[in-house]
This record gives sequence, structure tokens and C-alpha cells, in this order.
Amino acid sequence: MKTSAVILAAGYGTRMKSELPKVMHPLVGRPMIDWAVRAVEPVTQTPPVIVVGHGQALVRAYLGERGIYAEQHELLGTGHAVLQALPRIADDVDAVIVTYADMPLLTAATLSQLLDLYAANPTTAIAMLTITRDNPQGFGRIARRADGAVAAIVEEADCTPDQLLIRELNTGLYCFDAAWLRANLPTVPKSAKGEYYLTDLVAMAASQGRTIVTADAPLDDVYGVNNRVHLAEAEAVLRRRIVERHMLAGVTVIDPHSTYIEDAVEIGIDTTIWPGSILRGATKIGKHCTIGPYSQVVDSMIADHCRIIYSVIEQARMDEHAEIGPFGHLRKGAHLGERVHLGNFGEVKDAYLGPGAKMGHFSYIGNAEVGANVNIGAGTITCNYDGVHKSKTVIGDNAFIGSDTMLVAPVTIGREARTGAGAVVTRDVPPGATAFGVPARVKAKLPADEAT
Ligand code: UD1
Ligand code: CA
Repeated sequence: MKTSAVILAAGYGTRMKSELPKVMHPLVGRPMIDWAVRAVEPVTQTPPVIVVGHGQALVRAYLGERGIYAEQHELLGTGHAVLQALPRIADDVDAVIVTYADMPLLTAATLSQLLDLYAANPTTAIAMLTITRDNPQGFGRIARRADGAVAAIVEEADCTPDQLLIRELNTGLYCFDAAWLRANLPTVPKSAKGEYYLTDLVAMAASQGRTIVTADAPLDDVYGVNNRVHLAEAEAVLRRRIVERHMLAGVTVIDPHSTYIEDAVEIGIDTTIWPGSILRGATKIGKHCTIGPYSQVVDSMIADHCRIIYSVIEQARMDEHAEIGPFGHLRKGAHLGERVHLGNFGEVKDAYLGPGAKMGHFSYIGNAEVGANVNIGAGTITCNYDGVHKSKTVIGDNAFIGSDTMLVAPVTIGREARTGAGAVVTRDVPPGATAFGVPARVKAKLPADEAT
């Protein structure tokens, strides 16, 4: 069965009170429309037709070829919206799913159930998802005949007092027989409100003796976002789903409520996430790591057995057993080798620190290559920027950089060289030599040094 989907996204989203179109508001790092498209992609064989109107440029730019677009210039109702989509649905499509772009919690699993329901009976014209709720306000009511068969969906404004009491409600999610939809949608009349109601198709199918089937939808799945309170509530559900997936896959999350993990993040088993941690983008975290409390990791690769405490990591890399924090900052291009220790208030940008290097306190290392087992004394700074150019600092293996050293780049400190406390190093220091003073003078390695 070839299935396609229509996603309605032409509404104004007035209640968001935003300059951004409603469906472009992000939830856990992805625009609302992205979640809607993700729900239909696994159960359809063609890109969905997105009915766009208000703010369509942003929607088209974001989704690109993941969608086919149909414009609805005037908001003349849900029936009119799907009518705009019909010409964009390929002739060989058998079934058409209709969803709303503002239901970010809808899952492919729920749509797959809808499809199974639809496919179970060849006379079915419409399969639809319903909910039963004590508060029916705003929903179309499902009207049934005495024998229980669906007779119509009655919009709230058109309900009789008896119909207003119905608690079985229309979610707005359907699967239509494509041929039947093509034949009947254009004949839906204008309502008293001047709109074309998609829901009118239900009474039409019933009067033609076609089968209409319903299934209960999980309440979460059909949650519609109309304002920013709804946005936060929907996001909380999405976050919870993601965190639970990780917990069930072997990650310890101490406080799921205060943990923010975006969908694409990968985390290895036996890693522990402490409260207040935010993991975003294309981040990969290995096994047996400790993340947090209160750390943010964005687009970064963290190997096994790393520790990140009260720190911010962006577009950076940490090899096995590396640790940072409290209050460290790895910026773009920072790479800590195995067992590197970066302690309080350290910042690294565009630099590699070799295995076993230590940078315990108050240092900035930028545009640098630091060898293995280098000790970077408290307060050391690579002066990498002269106001115009960035220059590079190279520090050889086993070098010892004294506290408060200023490395005025470009500069190279040879392997096993040392700098004295407070040195301002403006020229290269040969391997094994010692540099001290302001500006630093170089002294060749002394026999006494060798003894220590
Ligand atoms: C609709 C259903 C109602 C159901 C409810 C569930 C109809 C006539 N009624 O009512 O039975 O209980 O959804 O939420 O279908 N849209 C367009 N173009 C339009 C009109 C709407 O793209 O011309 C989009 C909107 O952006 C929105 C969605 O369709 O995402 C629903 O439209 P709305 O007018 O809010 O329908 P409801 O009155 O809520
Ligand atoms: Ca509405």
C-alpha cells in the first residue's frame, strides 16, 4: 500500500505572539515542523505534502526536499487546506494520512496503528484517531448511530445540546482512501462559518455506506501547541521520552527533570548524568563518563571514562580519561588528549593538549599544540592575538610552564624546557633550556636542573 501524508501548517499561530512562524519554534533543538515530519516519514513512501501559508519561506528553507509544498493563500478551513494538497499527491498513492504540524508529540508508532486499522478492511474510506476526554471544549464530537457506527463529526459550534455532551472527540488525524478523497473532497460544501470542513467528509462517507473506523490515540500524541505554555509542556514530554530512552539503554540520569538531551545525542552505557546538564547537537559521549552537575556539551566528541564538571564544551573533543572542571571551557577546535587534566577556570580553543598534560588553574590556551605530559602552571596564557592576527604556540613534550607565564605567539617552547614564574616569553626556548624574566632570557639546561 503506497501511503503519503498531508501536514497542515498554514495557520497563523497568532497565540504564540511571535515573529517566528509557530511551526518553526524549536522543541529540544528541532523546529515543531521537524517533529511533525519525523512522525510521518517512517510510515510513508513519498515526502509529505506540507500545506504552507504564513511564514512559508522559513518552512521551505528548513525542510527543503523533505517536503512537497502546497500553498494555501486564504485560510478557508481544513477541508480547503487538504484540497490544495491533492494535486501534489502522486496518482499511484493508495492512502493519504492527514496530520497537523502543531502536534509535535505525534509518533510514527501511533500513525502506524492508524494505517493498520485502515488497511484491515477494504471498504474503509476513513480511519481516524479519537480521544475521550472529560473536557471536550474546542473539539469536534464523534456522532454515532444507534448501532455504534460513526455517522458524522460535528464541530462544536454546530452541536445540539445533546451532542455537546459527547466525550468522544476528533483529534484531526485521519487516513483516507486516496481515490475516495480525490472524488469527494472537492464536493464538500462551505459551512455556515464560511469554511470548508475536512470533518464533513465523515458524514459523506457514512451516507455512501463506506466504512469509517476509529482508534483511541494516546493523549500525549495528539497534544496541540497553540501558545508558549503548550510549547513548554510539549517539550517536557519530548525531553522525558529522550531521557527515558537513554536510561533504558544503560545511562544513569540522576534527575531527568533538570536534564536536557537533544534527540541526536549518543551516550554510552554506565555514564552518569548529574542534574542541570545540557547535551546538544551532534554530541557523542562514551561509556563510563561523568557529566555534570551543571555542564553543557554541544557538538562534541567525548570518549570513554571522561569527567566534565560544571563546564561548557563546544565543538570540542576529549580523549579517554580526560577531565575538565569545575568551571572549564572548551571552545571550537579544543582537543584534550588521553588523561589530560584541566582544572578550575581553564579555557582552551583551537588547541591540542597531548596525553597526560595538566592545566590545573586559571589558564588560557588558544591556537596551540601542547605535547605529552606538559605541566601548564597556574595563570599561564597564550597571547595568541595581536589585534590583527592569530599566531600559534607550540610546547614540546614534558615541558614545564611556570605559573603566570605569558607565551607571546608565535613561539615554540622545546621539549623538556622550563619557564620561570611570571616569564613573558617572546622568543623560542630550545629543548631543555629555561626561560625566565620579562622579557624572558634563555638559560641552557643546568646540571643542577638535571638532578631534580
Ligand atoms: C479541527 C477539527 C476538529 C478537531 C480539531 C482537533 C475541522 C473542521 N475541525 O478543529 O474536529 O476536533 O481540529 O484539533 O477540521 N489549518 C490550515 N488551513 C486552514 C485551516 C486550518 O492549514 O484553512 C491548519 C491549522 O494551522 C491548524 C489545523 O489546520 O494546525 C487545525 O485547524 P483549526 O482551524 O484550528 O481546526 P479546529 O477548529 O481546531
Ligand atoms: Ca483550533
